[in-house]
Parts: sequence; C-alpha cells; structure tokens
Amino acid sequence: MAEPSKPPLKLDGKITIITGGASGIGEATARLFANHGAYVIIADIQDENGQQVANSIGTNRCTYIHCDISDEQQVISIVNLTVKTHGRLDIMFSNAGIISTSKQTVLDLNLTELDALLNVNVRGTAACVKHAARAMVEQRVRGCIVCTASVAASKGGSIRTDYVMTKHALLGLVRSASKQLGVYGIRVNCVSPSAVVTPLAKRSPESAEKTMRLYEKLSSLKGVELSVEDVAEAVLFLASDGSKFVTGHDLVVDGGLTKLPDADDLVMYDC
Ligand SMILES: NC(=O)c1ccc[n+]([C@@H]2O[C@H](COP(=O)([O-])OP(=O)(O)OC[C@H]3O[C@@H](n4cnc5c(N)ncnc54)[C@H](O)[C@@H]3O)[C@@H](O)[C@H]2O)c1
Repeated sequence: MAEPSKPPLKLDGKITIITGGASGIGEATARLFANHGAYVIIADIQDENGQQVANSIGTNRCTYIHCDISDEQQVISIVNLTVKTHGRLDIMFSNAGIISTSKQTVLDLNLTELDALLNVNVRGTAACVKHAARAMVEQRVRGCIVCTASVAASKGGSIRTDYVMTKHALLGLVRSASKQLGVYGIRVNCVSPSAVVTPLAKRSPESAEKTMRLYEKLSSLKGVELSVEDVAEAVLFLASDGSKFVTGHDLVVDGGLTKLPDADDLVMYDC
C-alpha cells in the first residue's frame, strides 16, 4: 500500500525572523513555521527561554538571538546578521509586545507607562518593519511582513487606553507600509487575536482560570477556545503563498468578538 503523502511544506527554505518568539504566540509560530520548512531566527530579550525554544525546535532549523526591538541598532544588527548568514530575509513576523500593568482610563493615564508601551509596541515594531523591508528591497526579495496587532486595534477600550492606542498605531503602520512596499512585491499584513492565554495575558490581575472564563464570553463561537496555535495558523496563512494577493489586511482571529454588539465592553479584557 502506498504511503500517505505528507502535506506540502508552506514555507520551505524561507528565512524568517520572529520577534517575541521565546514565548506565547511567537513561540507557537516559530514551531509551526519550522515544521513548514522555514529557518527561524527567534529575536527576544528572554535569553534562557529563547534558547530553550530554539534548542527544542532543533538548531538546524532555528536559532536564538538576543534583540531588544526598542533599540533600533539591535534590530539593524539582527537583520544584517540574518542576511550575512543566510543570504536574505524572506519573512519578518514582528510580534513582540508588552501590556501595561494598570487598567487605566484616560483620566488616570500614566504617561511614563505610555512611553514604555509606545517604545516597544509601536517604535520597536516600526523598526522591525523598516529594516526588514530595507533588506528585502536591497536583496530584491518579494518578502512578507506580518505584525501582531490585536482586537484592541479596531475597537476603543473601556480601560487600558495606552495598550489600545499602541495597537491602533500598528494598523496605520501596516496599511501605510503595504501601500509603499507593494511596488517591490512585499506584502505587509497584521494578525489581530482576541484574548488568548499566554504569559502576557496572565499578567492581568485575574487568575489564569478566571481569565479563561472571561475569554469564553469574548466570542460568538461557543465550544471552542482560542489557542496560540490558532493564531500561528493565521500567521502561517499571511506569510505563505496561500495569501499571495493579500496585503494591507488585518486578519482578526476573535471568534466573532468584534462583530458582537457589546464588543466595546468586552474588549476591555483584551490583553
Ligand atoms: N495574549 C493575548 O491575549 C493577546 C491578544 C492580542 C494581541 N496580543 C499580542 O500578541 C503579541 C505576543 O504576545 P503574547 O500574548 O504571546 O505574550 P508573551 O508575553 O507570551 O510573548 C511576548 C514576547 O515578547 C517578548 N518581548 C517583550 N518585549 C520585547 C522587546 N523589547 N524586544 C524583544 N522581545 C520582547 C517577551 O520577552 C515575550 O517573549 C503581543 O504583541 C501582544 O500584544 C496578545
């Protein structure tokens, strides 16, 4: 009897940088991409976790490099090193992000905390998009850039004003970059998950269990919970040829949350 044929590799030989790949959504995407034939460079600031993830994927398919995306020089270095080592950069998944500790409204917005969030979520992501795009243009690579935004990018929140602001800014970045880079054949999209339990989400004051119960309400789809693997599948679609005519798109992975009439209230739980 003939062996069942293996599903085709969707990213065979693609050289990929994943920021925030040491944990959560980035880690799940690193594993999925490597399984689809990509060579993955994890860029993160959690050195021990990042190295462990790279080792578990296999050093022939993945490597870890320390990179704080809020420092433009470190972003330049990792992109340059990638091109020097592998000849090109095909995919940038700019996913690293942080959340504020306070659930503030605009009335008690802490501008110092806002600066910290802007520094990573907006400035850092912009540096990743800029330098990935430059490398792709220079190498004439018709590459893909995917950013992680959030459902908080398309709805105002009742709390966490600072986080909502940073995720809205990413839509502007993705939409502008997609217009400007289309001429080079470079696609730029973002993925926008609703709440999914990761170390970042657990930083909210609720327990992980309570957080899960809250998240169940955040979907019109019942009997299914969002996982990091689901988000990774959406990123795989945006990074692969299956989406070759898709650019400037915000792929919302939210079980219908943003379509619910009371979504504005629910979005406050977004992490
Ligand atoms: N978890 C959710 O519910 C949720 C929902 C919507 C969007 N998001 C977004 O998903 C992305 C990933 O978050 P996650 O939930 O997987 O969280 P996570 O905390 O598990 O992963 C985030 C990773 O980013 C890394 N990181 C933080 N600052 C960095 C910096 N300056 N330079 C490099 N790496 C840095 C962290 O070390 C961590 O490994 C974030 O952009 C987050 O805003 C998460």
